[in-house]
Amino acid sequence: MTSPELPAELKAALDGKLRGFSRTDAAGRSAAISKTYRDGGGSTTIRSGTDALAYALARMPATYAAVTASLNALAENRPDFAPGSLLDVGAGPGTATWSAAEAFRSLTDFTLLDANDALRTLALDLVRDSTRLRGIAYERGEARAALVKADAADLVVASYMIGEIGDAEQRALAELMWQKTHDTLLVVEPGTPAGYARIIALRAHLIALGAHVAAPCPHDSQCPLQAPDWCHFTQRLQRSRAHKQVKGAALPYEDEKFAYVALTRAAVVRRASRVLAQPVVSKVDVTAKLCTPDGLAFRKVPRRAKADYASARRWRWGDAIT
Ligand SMILES: C[S@@+](CC[C@H](N)C(=O)[O-])C[C@H]1O[C@@H](n2cnc3c(N)ncnc32)[C@H](O)[C@@H]1O
Repeated sequence: MTSPELPAELKAALDGKLRGFSRTDAAGRSAAISKTYRDGGGSTTIRSGTDALAYALARMPATYAAVTASLNALAENRPDFAPGSLLDVGAGPGTATWSAAEAFRSLTDFTLLDANDALRTLALDLVRDSTRLRGIAYERGEARAALVKADAADLVVASYMIGEIGDAEQRALAELMWQKTHDTLLVVEPGTPAGYARIIALRAHLIALGAHVAAPCPHDSQCPLQAPDWCHFTQRLQRSRAHKQVKGAALPYEDEKFAYVALTRAAVVRRASRVLAQPVVSKVDVTAKLCTPDGLAFRKVPRRAKADYASARRWRWGDAIT
């Protein structure tokens, strides 16, 4: 399992960028960028180096943690998966690339693409001293146009990206990303009902084109959840001092909610049920909400079934269980 915390090399690179940089300025820019996101806008307000760094300080730890949790779930269900090449679509500061590099030591070939110059420049700065990532190719341009020219990769990732484009474009982008996927496509979105809706639409569209779900769902059927319920997960991450200052936050940690789907070309053998919420543990039993190969289930494990109860007590939201 890869740790959800930023790797030491990336932390050091971010700290280096922070030297001589006003935290108050960064906090101000970060608040403005966050407000744009909350109002439904995208990363178009990120224009300068300061904006890009403020974005990275405020959001990179959380999006890194969410992508890492998704890749951990994928690797658990596909222990044989050893991708050689990565295509990071809407790569921004390179978050998903750093995460995939940690999760898969087999990766040697990294291509990133994004339309935002300030984020691209920051990403290239952050990898400058990395032995593994300094040779990345980072293409500048609109995702669909850049994808048409890109080589296919074993692993294609779009993290916190598809929500920045319109519905019709999302379908076209999904098809293009799938065309460029040799093996697995991972899409990660915020864990909101809207983020889930985008994931579920892309999932259905690509299953109709022959994709199979590797995670989180243990089936390729329609999602059994009914609105207002939605499938999402949470990942806890520690906040550094700079992270707290930029976010104006007091708590030493945050919980990032995310939704994701990993789609593969070959049918997946391991189809473990997925824990869809934190199980409720009482003295009598453990009650868990599960997505199973046969649909939604609420499993009760009574205390008298000692060994089963002991293992059910360890279940966590997002776990794959058999
Ligand atoms: C919220 S950021 C996420 C960045 C990164 N993937 C991460 O997880 O931290 C969204 C990224 O998608 C990029 N993006 C949005 N629409 C795009 C498009 N049509 N073509 C290329 N990049 C796009 C933005 O420039 C931005 O870098």
